[in-house]
Amino acid sequence: MSSGDNARTPPPSAREGGVGGGSTPQRTWGGRFSEAPNELAQQFNASWSFDQRLALVDIEGSLAHAAMLGKQGIISAEEAETLRRGLLEVHQEILDGQFEWREALEDVHMNVETRLSEIVGPVGGKLHTARSRNDQVATDLRLWLRGELSAILTELKALRKVLVHQAQKYLEPPLILPGYTHTQRAMPVLLSHWFLAYYEMTTRDAGRLQDALNRLNESPLGAAALAGTGFPIDRYLTAQTLGFTRPMRNSMDAVGSRDFALETLAALAIGQITLSRIAEEIVLYSSFEFGFISLPDAFSTGSSIMPQKKNADHAELIRGKAGRTLGSFVALATLMKGLPLTYNKDLQEDKEPIFDACDTYRASVKLLAAMLPGLEWKPQPMAKAAESGFSLATDLADYLAEKGVPFREAHHLVGRIVRYCGEHGKELRDLSLGELQSFHPAYEADAPLLTRLETAIHRRHSYGGTAPEAVKEALEAAKLEVNQ
Ligand code: ARG
Repeated sequence: MSSGDNARTPPPSAREGGVGGGSTPQRTWGGRFSEAPNELAQQFNASWSFDQRLALVDIEGSLAHAAMLGKQGIISAEEAETLRRGLLEVHQEILDGQFEWREALEDVHMNVETRLSEIVGPVGGKLHTARSRNDQVATDLRLWLRGELSAILTELKALRKVLVHQAQKYLEPPLILPGYTHTQRAMPVLLSHWFLAYYEMTTRDAGRLQDALNRLNESPLGAAALAGTGFPIDRYLTAQTLGFTRPMRNSMDAVGSRDFALETLAALAIGQITLSRIAEEIVLYSSFEFGFISLPDAFSTGSSIMPQKKNADHAELIRGKAGRTLGSFVALATLMKGLPLTYNKDLQEDKEPIFDACDTYRASVKLLAAMLPGLEWKPQPMAKAAESGFSLATDLADYLAEKGVPFREAHHLVGRIVRYCGEHGKELRDLSLGELQSFHPAYEADAPLLTRLETAIHRRHSYGGTAPEAVKEALEAAKLEVNQ
């Protein structure tokens, strides 16, 4: 069974059918209590409606625990086998959508365990020997996140491949985009260079998620409530069975820590911020004002009142969802701050932000990967914008600096050239050699070439720059990475 095989929330009809279905079950902790729970209190306490997403990994953890109990002679081999078969039956019921969730059973753990006992009889009650829901839920969450992060990393790799592919596509013939600083035209760049900038960013995002994944992959199981147990359990065995690198060394840490979830949420929030920046540029560039991108019909929406509209709703949503993901991180960080060791029920509130951030990021990555190849980039308006707005002024200054004029002086002088152009309604490319020389005698016959886009692009051949040769080098390295 794969831990990535996460249980999905069943349709509301199935859920409603399940709530409180059948007779009111016996609470697993009911022994100490003589009074029935208040209905509101019970509803408030329950987490089954969202933590049922942990059901399959919960069973995976229980299978490992039961087998270990049998192996260690804590329960008999037959009992272990009975538990195994019962758990597999529950597993199947969940996959088939036949499982009846009961609110009175509070959470996923007690729903599964109670159903197990219904199937196998009193021996079901032996499963929880040497275990607590505290180590159980921490184990489940780590298993679930491990599966989810692997799936997210696969989707993210597909997006990174798309970025590389787009960079390759627009390299020859090279498509030129105005590069911006302060949202003012600054210097022309290759569109491929722009795509590769986002490739680098998403690659670091993947690295952060991978780091979180590596660090969370250790086993809390066997920490029991908080202090370990007197039973002769083998924590190495359960850790190994579940594919964890090792059992966690400290039982209090094992049940009381959620920094693994915080770290994941931080990485997801940063990742979503990257996506929101790509999305923002799509929104901007597909606007009438920029006109660099035409959106494919399949990825735009119309207006219910303005017939001419074609809106970048999907990109806007990706941008907007960054707030939501960051909110999930902040929610959990706030929850954790000042929480004393070890388990506190506050920790039940960790799940929804985790699920939501994973779902949001995963859906956004998928959508972007599907949308990017369909964008139609418009070479003419892009080139026109790239060469106007004096974006090649730096080249005129660099030229003088190469001839020995101190750069500050050259900068000042070209500032005067720009002002001259402004006063005479000219762009830099309209200047004759004579006009350039009237500003400085160092301008020679090759100087007017500087005001051509291609020259400007080719000049920036420093490592990491936008010249085609530099971009090609970066592209080759990226290709190797995504094709591994
Ligand atoms: N539903 C609980 C949670 O999500 C499971 C652990 C409950 N443990 C306890 N001691 N009440 O955190």
